[in-house]
Amino acid sequence: MPNKSWIDICSTEDLEPNGGVSALVGDVQIALFTLADGQVFALDNYDPFSRAMVLSRGIIGDIKGTAIVASPIYKQYFCLKTGQCLDDQDVMVRSWPVKIENQRVLLKNEQQKIAA
Ligand code: FES
Repeated sequence: MPNKSWIDICSTEDLEPNGGVSALVGDVQIALFTLADGQVFALDNYDPFSRAMVLSRGIIGDIKGTAIVASPIYKQYFCLKTGQCLDDQDVMVRSWPVKIENQRVLLKNEQQKIAA
């Protein structure tokens, strides 16, 4: 069986430095965020507050050392590492492990959550 746990989603050239881009991976819309130092994070693109696929268009920033994205609609903050909403303990979006290899961005399909 081939190891399908890491999915090749795009080139590092497709990333937006200091911002976000969206990528359709199988049946899931992912938001990929790139910090100024080159770290890449992946969250669901789905914003549970506005119920729209918009998180990739949010502004990224730093709240007391936590890298966050602000939803572009209602401005809630989400932690880029965990997907935890910092404004509402009960709300999270999924976060996905990402790694870069040979200028390709790979996303870990944990527990085969994505039907690719
Ligand atoms: S590191 Fe993001 S919520 Fe704790």
